[in-house]
Amino acid sequence: MPRTEPIRAVRGVRDILPRDRSLWRAAERAAAEVATRFGYQEIVTPIIERVELIERVGEDTDAIAKELYRFEDRGGRQLALRPEATAGIVRAYFEGGLNQGPQPARLYLFGPMFRYDRPQKGRYRQFYQFDIEAIGSASPALDAEVIEIARGWLNESGIPELKLELNSIGDGVCRPAYLDRLRDYYRPLEEKLHPDCQRRLETNPLRLLDCKVPQCQPFKAGAPRITDHLCEPCSQAWTQVRRLVESAGIEYVHNPYLVRGLDYYTRTVFEFYPAGASGQQDALASGGRYDGLAETEGWPSTPGVGFAGGFDRVVEVMAASGVEVVAAPAAEVAVLADAGLDHEAANIARICRAVRSVAVDYEAKSLAAKMRSAAKLGARWVVLLSADEAARRTARLRDMASGEQVEVAWDELPERLSR
Ligand code: HAM
Repeated sequence: MPRTEPIRAVRGVRDILPRDRSLWRAAERAAAEVATRFGYQEIVTPIIERVELIERVGEDTDAIAKELYRFEDRGGRQLALRPEATAGIVRAYFEGGLNQGPQPARLYLFGPMFRYDRPQKGRYRQFYQFDIEAIGSASPALDAEVIEIARGWLNESGIPELKLELNSIGDGVCRPAYLDRLRDYYRPLEEKLHPDCQRRLETNPLRLLDCKVPQCQPFKAGAPRITDHLCEPCSQAWTQVRRLVESAGIEYVHNPYLVRGLDYYTRTVFEFYPAGASGQQDALASGGRYDGLAETEGWPSTPGVGFAGGFDRVVEVMAASGVEVVAAPAAEVAVLADAGLDHEAANIARICRAVRSVAVDYEAKSLAAKMRSAAKLGARWVVLLSADEAARRTARLRDMASGEQVEVAWDELPERLSR
């Protein structure tokens, strides 16, 4: 038989091992707590969606054009692994009749997203988002609300120092005229831009503003700023969002080049970075308003605003900033029985589980080796069982910290372990 290599994980995806889960769980718990405190309810949507739903959201978007995991299922349907959650949540809002309930629908979601991006630290092909959406209201107060939720979540996850960047990118009324100005400004410079930006000049000129390639940087400063060219309603909303964010005590910087990578945004866009991060660093949470998205999906025009935070990145920053979470022991009680007593050991474990987490060591190894494993599990007690004791329906209960050991009847174990 030819020797084969062991089968390893797919490139760009990774396992989250039990030793790392406690930090993740802390970030998830903070997310659910903050969302609940603001009146948001959990929603779960499928990981697979029709490819049209995703593509309509932005064909000029990298996350969609180049990075989409798409496939045909056995019935010949064109499907995609969701690269983000907003498109699916808006679909579910209508399909599930949430548009008939109190508005806005305030929703949150946890789950994996998929993008065929170049893998690197903080950038994975399967990554996990905390997504917040308020659908069915155009009030700028909700833009400020979701920003406050993002900040609350990051703070409660143990990341106190943050940088918030904020911008408005107008709407269908004022943006087209602004894009013409932007093209007029960039056209004479076309030859000096890198090839992707030359292409974007005609297809998606807004993206010229967040290009990170050095050769395109010198031209940004002279480019017209969209916040100087907003229509009256967008301009009022922009003023109000900033006022509300300020009155929530949240510091921000106006970044006129912040345009975001997805095509569905209107008006407010924002990104949170760890404080001290340069502009090149990846955002921890980002979002904005998307008043045209529902209509793009074929539903009645409905405004919405939200953000998504990346758990992978947040947990990396938590670990780097020394956030420590006391990990619960794998089992509080370990049951170690002599050979041939598996059945009795399982019975004892069942009795003890009424009050504690319990793991039985069924391996054929020495008592000393079993004691070492129990210590590694973090067990506070071990229950030792010999054939004689089993016959009397007793066992030895040992306190791992003090080394104290007493013989206890099986039925008395729960009471002893509750002390
Ligand atoms: P996004 O900026 O594409 O927005 O992603 C949101 C967050 O997901 C990012 O700030 C980052 O923390 C995380 N993230 C994105 N790509 C990766 C990756 N490859 N690896 C690890 N983390 C990643 C959205 O997805 C919008 N749906 C947000 C939104 C909700 N806008 C309105 N509502």
